Amino acid sequence: METVAIHKDVAEILVSSEQIEERCKQLGKEISDYYRNKDAQLVVVGLLKGSVPFMADLIKHIDVDLEIDFMDVSSYVGTDSTEVKILKDVENPVTGKEVLIVEDIVDTGKTLQEVVGLFQSKGAKDVRIATLLSKPEGRIIDIKIDYIGFSVPNKFVIGYGLDYNQKYRNLPYVGVIKKEAI
Ligand code: PRP
Repeated sequence: METVAIHKDVAEILVSSEQIEERCKQLGKEISDYYRNKDAQLVVVGLLKGSVPFMADLIKHIDVDLEIDFMDVSSYVGTDSTEVKILKDVENPVTGKEVLIVEDIVDTGKTLQEVVGLFQSKGAKDVRIATLLSKPEGRIIDIKIDYIGFSVPNKFVIGYGLDYNQKYRNLPYVGVIKKEAI
């Protein structure tokens, strides 16, 4: 078994790299089963930057034809949730397509509410959501999430795409940051 040295700024590991790998396989199968017999083109849209590791691992387990695209939206300053800004839009048209949005974490739900609305206004045939993590206690907007990797408590989590001031995205697990590192 692989031993991962825990980063000095991590108080505890919430989700190990092995658990993430296993869950990506399961979700990839569920997603494939759902989209397999759809007529419209599937486009998987990753929300930068946090979704990058999850997106890369997840799509390897989806065995239907798909396009990938990326959007950059921002909703955090430090540890406080603020306004949602669209920094980069998708490159290819989504009109008439099946859109699967891939997120690292859903907290208040504000980001996804904005992004889902944007795809609907662009004429997407359907919009579904896959997120690695969900923080149910943080929810302000009651948004329907189709695929959830893991639910996590209302703590500041880092790793596997998730950052604190742009750091820790490269950790292969999801952990809780130590108070003294904030
Ligand atoms: C984070 C995360 C989600 C959003 C979730 O993005 O990736 O997009 O916040 O929060 P919400 O449900 O309260 O809206 P962030 O703006 O930190 O961008 P990043 O992915 O580049 O880190």
